[in-house]
Amino acid sequence: MKKVILAYSGGLDTSVAVAWLREQYDVEVVTLTVDVGGGSLRDGVQARAMSAGASRAYVVDAKERFVTSFVWPHLQASALYQGVYPLATALARPLIAQLLVEVANREGADAVAHGSTGKGNDQVRFDVAVHALDPALEVVAPLRVGMGLSRDQEIDYAIERGIEIPITKSSPYSIDVNIWGRSCETGVLEDPWATPPPDAYEWTVAAEDAPAASEIVIGFEGGIPVSLDGDRADPVALVARLNDLGGVHGIGRIDHVEDRLVGIKSREIYETPAATILHRAHRALEGLTLTKDTLRFNRIVADELAQLTYDGLWFSALHRDLRGYSASSQRVVSGDVRMRLDHGSAIVVGRRSPLSLYDKSLATYDKEDAFDHAAAVGFIEIFGLPLRVEAARHGAVGKHHGAAWSWTEPLLADLPTDIADPDPAGGAG
Ligand code: ARG
Repeated sequence: MKKVILAYSGGLDTSVAVAWLREQYDVEVVTLTVDVGGGSLRDGVQARAMSAGASRAYVVDAKERFVTSFVWPHLQASALYQGVYPLATALARPLIAQLLVEVANREGADAVAHGSTGKGNDQVRFDVAVHALDPALEVVAPLRVGMGLSRDQEIDYAIERGIEIPITKSSPYSIDVNIWGRSCETGVLEDPWATPPPDAYEWTVAAEDAPAASEIVIGFEGGIPVSLDGDRADPVALVARLNDLGGVHGIGRIDHVEDRLVGIKSREIYETPAATILHRAHRALEGLTLTKDTLRFNRIVADELAQLTYDGLWFSALHRDLRGYSASSQRVVSGDVRMRLDHGSAIVVGRRSPLSLYDKSLATYDKEDAFDHAAAVGFIEIFGLPLRVEAARHGAVGKHHGAAWSWTEPLLADLPTDIADPDPAGGAG
């Protein structure tokens, strides 16, 4: 190993890692910092990398690419890990891995490095993505192979070597941020029964501290949000605006005990105001514009994509092909969704689309009703046929293979029943 590209956040761990890699392996270290929004880019990151001993320090603004190529496909697919986590951290990893590989190739490096620990998902995501893109690159994770220093030891280590220490207050949590969400774990959060303390949250207020409810209208084209209250907005600005707005209204707090890829259950607190609002709005518009069969099938695709992304398999053929299906299914998901932001809840209160499948003349109970009620009789006759045949042949109560069994227990004898009878004596008139 001669030259390594280190994914560099500018925090204490990765600053120490620059010096540690040089001393441990006698290598040249080039840092790569990827700005994925949400405050992920620390001030003075380049100067700090150089002070820690990097020979070059790349900073890449990937905010727009992150939203359009990684976030939007998952919004279109409605992909949420275990039904709740919008995958913010997981979505940024393949992008960072891809950039690590590109910088490694440009710099003629033979290895890349990252600051993940040995028991999380992120190490898996980085390692497998890098090896999918360039199997010749070695991947080093200093925290996994012996760098493991306590916070105080890291500070001493940095001071001894004249490394500029990031002036952040030491957080009791392990935090990862990007424009799609903020992930917060460890500390008191490790007790899944403990209420998250107020300092676990940074992007959102408590629901009871939110101002009066307000309404917004989000416009979609092909399953992608393009406007807010009628004003077109570029992807990064739109997500940032919804994070601010949602945060003010206390929207997007997620408290999740999640199953890590490495087999551990872990308690994570997420703040995802924009993701929460946009996923809900998008689902509402799908409900108006897609058939029931597509909606049902999309649930399967959503779960599958979420799992693959969570597991770090972005660069697999299955992931790419499912994204392809998903994008195609979204061609008609265009229109507007009106949402009420109300003390922690983002509630859909209206939706409209030029491609709507909703037909008022079919749905109405008014006199304009165009639905053929009489035809329902024939439909039910055919629809219910298999069940009638089954009940007749196998019986609702029967004896099969010697065992008596029944679908139902009698209910009437067990339930309090009030009978109004004009002739309590029961005599027939
Ligand atoms: N559990 C999430 C995931 O694996 C987030 C992990 C982010 N890291 C953190 N320090 N909170 O995608």
